[in-house]
Amino acid sequence: MAFFLLCSLVEQQKRLVLNLMPIPRQYFLSFFCQSYIVYMGDRPSDEISTSFLHTNLLQAAFGSDVAATKSVRYTYQRSFSGIVIDLTEEEAAKMAEMDGVVSLFPNEKKHLHTTRSWNFLGLSEQVKRSPSEGDIIIGVLDTGIWPESNSFNDKGLGPPPKKWKGTCKSNNITCNNKIIGAKYYNSDNLFSDGEFRSPRDTDGHGTHTASIAAGRVVNRASLYGLASGKARGGVPSARIAVYKICWVFGCSDADILAAFDDAIADGVDIISLSVGASFAKEYFREPISIGAYHAMKKGILTVTSAGNDGPIHSSIANIAPWSISVAASTMDRKFLTKVKLGNNKVYEGLSVNPFDLKNKMYPLIYGADAANTSSDMSSRAKYCMTDSLDSNLVKGKIVLCDLVGSGFGALNAGAVGTLMRDQYPFVFAKSFPLPASAFELVDGNQIFSYINTTSAPTATIYKSTEGIDTLAPYVHTFSSRGPNPITPDLLKPDLAAPGDNILAAWTLGSSITGVEGDNRIVPFNIISGTSMACPHVSASAAYVKSFHPSWSPAAIQSALMTTALPMNSGINLEAEFAYGSGQVNPVKAVNPGLVYDAEEIDYIKFLCGQGYSTRLLRLVTRDNATCSDEAANATVWDLNYPSFALSTSPSEALRHSFKRTVTNVGSPMSTYRAIVAAPIGLIKIQVTPSVLSFTSVGQKLSFELIIEGKLDKSLVSASLEWDDGEHKVRSPVIVFGSIP
Ligand SMILES: *[C@@H]1O[C@H](CO)[C@@H](O)[C@H](O)[C@H]1NC(C)=O
Ligand SMILES: *[C@@H]1O[C@H](CO)[C@@H](O)[C@H](O)[C@H]1NC(C)=O
Ligand SMILES: *[C@@H]1O[C@H](CO)[C@@H](O)[C@H](O)[C@H]1NC(C)=O
Ligand SMILES: *[C@@H]1O[C@H](CO)[C@@H](O)[C@H](O)[C@H]1NC(C)=O
Ligand SMILES: *[C@@H]1O[C@H](CO)[C@@H](O)[C@H](O)[C@H]1NC(C)=O
Repeated sequence: MAFFLLCSLVEQQKRLVLNLMPIPRQYFLSFFCQSYIVYMGDRPSDEISTSFLHTNLLQAAFGSDVAATKSVRYTYQRSFSGIVIDLTEEEAAKMAEMDGVVSLFPNEKKHLHTTRSWNFLGLSEQVKRSPSEGDIIIGVLDTGIWPESNSFNDKGLGPPPKKWKGTCKSNNITCNNKIIGAKYYNSDNLFSDGEFRSPRDTDGHGTHTASIAAGRVVNRASLYGLASGKARGGVPSARIAVYKICWVFGCSDADILAAFDDAIADGVDIISLSVGASFAKEYFREPISIGAYHAMKKGILTVTSAGNDGPIHSSIANIAPWSISVAASTMDRKFLTKVKLGNNKVYEGLSVNPFDLKNKMYPLIYGADAANTSSDMSSRAKYCMTDSLDSNLVKGKIVLCDLVGSGFGALNAGAVGTLMRDQYPFVFAKSFPLPASAFELVDGNQIFSYINTTSAPTATIYKSTEGIDTLAPYVHTFSSRGPNPITPDLLKPDLAAPGDNILAAWTLGSSITGVEGDNRIVPFNIISGTSMACPHVSASAAYVKSFHPSWSPAAIQSALMTTALPMNSGINLEAEFAYGSGQVNPVKAVNPGLVYDAEEIDYIKFLCGQGYSTRLLRLVTRDNATCSDEAANATVWDLNYPSFALSTSPSEALRHSFKRTVTNVGSPMSTYRAIVAAPIGLIKIQVTPSVLSFTSVGQKLSFELIIEGKLDKSLVSASLEWDDGEHKVRSPVIVFGSIP
């Protein structure tokens, strides 16, 4: 029975309707067709039956005549099952209820959220490497790659590992033994001018993240002398498989899921995804979480960025327990850009400024005093917005702006340089297309008052210098924070890694800022973001896997989390909601002693406890999984996760139990003692048994952690450490009430 209208017919009617306006708004809206992702769980055992399911669904929905003409943008069938199709809202609502459908949601857009950093993490160039590092394949889902970059040369690398089933599908990229696969996805068929319609990277972001993870060693890399030194990825011998999913117009959900479908089937070991939504979504309505779930089933660990929407609490979007979410922390290096005023006062701002004005003093003007009065943007002149400034008043001068913007407005009006002051203390060093330095309000106000009280104010901007940040590591303001908006008692983010001013390879397809008028096309660039933090953890996971090829994704995740360097809540008051378990330590993670392992059944129990039905979970797993009474009661607190989180209402007496099982991956005979560190207060944490004695490798022992008492502040940050004298297996324990 065909109960749907054909979308293309509706499109025509919509045009007619538009001409016949006015009509009731509701009626009009329901005529819109939009692309939807229909997720149908795991694929049945062979591809023929997967496409049979898709055909069946379409026929049941539209009848066989119409189904045959229905345009399907994607069919997912290599690693899981689903289709992407244009539907009206009514069609979508009906299809969501049909047999075989796990979830149906609109196809939306996501955004993209040296190499000193590896030394800072303790992974030196001389570190012990596994001979099987070359067998590890990292799938990078990003903006593509610049394959000719020196960071991707394949000198000394043998042919791709035998398990590799992927391809290099491109008219404009040649793969080698470093970049072993390259594909691109653009189901909207929307390209911007000059954008490469191939896996070649127009933006630079994908080249940067891939080289942080697995770039070869390149000597004497720098950005015009800044951050100079050796550039290298964490696993220089590992292979890169490129899946280009992000374009000038964003990264569509349908393309992300298509890339997962391929990457899993192609045989990658780790998936690195520095992309995210602005809001967390329920687990099976979020393509990244769906893709990562099916990756986990095939033994592939997905590493994602936490997002750049901090410091607002609950701003984290990548939150599934079967993937890692990475916050961005600082390194001990920071870029400072001094500015001297005509009164000889020197102020130190933040920016990555390779320009050199050679000490020459230039006239200084405040943006609001240089408004182009014949432009309708003139009221925005103090922010130096595009077309707001009068170029006659700005030309040849340095302009002070009340916003840390892109710098384009000032450059376009002919300014020599720009000083920026921001009312928010969120300033961090970034690149601008002209000499620039950014200030927080205190210094910014002094510069302003100098301008306001001086008849011919002048200034110069110096090339940036590298300063030492003795407080590092701490988490950057922009890094998205927990708690987890969907499951508050599952701690996210999991880890922190450097995401602050990272030097790595860049595309020659655009300038270092991408701002019009910036012509600096160079092979390395310095940028910041959780996007840069993510590949540090992807490579760390690859490094661990190269020593332990048989470890599950959960075991690798546990190893990375329990060996992380604990961070300090002195600077990040949100504590674990900023940095999770702490700063990743790849060398230690190879030998964690114990792991908190988990497999699909553990996540299924967790999902049962989250209210998912047996019907949906059977589609997701394609087996006879049931939310049996026992499993249905599996709570989030019993998921074998390497961290502990408990939300509670303040002043309520609480007693709460967490059950965990650890697997011995250290010495066969070893005895671990539980060490609990908790602040003095009303919360008590007990572990029973408090001693775990192992007699063999692979042996599993269980324990219970009980939190009792009363929350006497908004957030109590504690830890459990299992210590055998050689290993310290640390998990954060966080109890929180109202969000800090
Ligand atoms: C292929 O790549 C080169 C850069 O090496 C670029 O100049 C050219 O425009 C690209 N062609 C297409 C079709 O993308
Ligand atoms: C001022 O703005 C107008 C309108 O946008 C523009 O045509 C003109 O070139 C601008 N003048 C200067 C001096 O920037
Ligand atoms: C600029 O200086 C004048 C005095 O010279 C003062 O009245 C005025 O408030 C100042 N402007 C601002 C925005 O501080
Ligand atoms: C599915 O059923 C079979 C046979 O009854 C059983 O052996 C198997 O353990 C079940 N699998 C799950 C995941 O329950
Ligand atoms: C599961 O929890 C519900 C509600 O707490 C309870 O009624 C039921 O008996 C529990 N089932 C099992 C098998 O523990």
